[in-house]
Amino acid sequence: MKKIVVLVSGTGTNLNALINAFKNDEIKNAKIECVISSNNHAKAVEIAKEAGLKTKIIDVKSFDDKAKFQEKLFLTLKELSPDLIVLAGFLQIIGKQIIDHFKNRIINIHPSLIPSFCGAGVYGLKVHEAALERGVKITGATVHFVNEIADDGPIILQKAVEIKQDDDAKTLQKRVMKEAEWQILKKAVNLICLDKIEIRNKKTYIKN
Ligand code: GRF
Repeated sequence: MKKIVVLVSGTGTNLNALINAFKNDEIKNAKIECVISSNNHAKAVEIAKEAGLKTKIIDVKSFDDKAKFQEKLFLTLKELSPDLIVLAGFLQIIGKQIIDHFKNRIINIHPSLIPSFCGAGVYGLKVHEAALERGVKITGATVHFVNEIADDGPIILQKAVEIKQDDDAKTLQKRVMKEAEWQILKKAVNLICLDKIEIRNKKTYIKN
């Protein structure tokens, strides 16, 4: 049984999708050990508690510098000793110490088809604004492993979403979540927990 820790900061809809997937037996051989939030008031924490999950708050605002926040996060993760860390709307950078210690064991969901509309500072509504600004007709979401460069790690799964003429950033964000993010995150988690993902030359392959 794999131990998963989910890191959140916001509304928690991806966490919710994972919780539902567990209920529907769409994720096997795993359990969510703990949900850690960087924000005391995150809706995601309520969602976790309602589902009966263990929660920990490491409120970034209560640290006078980011290095101390990183250290606390690292020590907490080390103690929990997860097989997989899922960044589900986690709005903090993951430090090198954590990335090195949990190499190829941290995944993130990004609301675009990487390598489009991603990288440092491109998150949340900004991603969808950039896609609309560029006038692309298709966007989507990507689940990828986390390395030391923002949105650069090996891609695990992607799903496309069509952009409609009358979309604004908010309508697009909602559709990308519903049609892509909530679908591929649970699939990627399941594949990893079943040891079906292999990484070679910075690419992933699904084992038979
Ligand atoms: C999602 O759009 C996800 O792709 C991005 O942050 C957002 C989190 O939303 N990384 P939620 O907290 O899961 O509702």
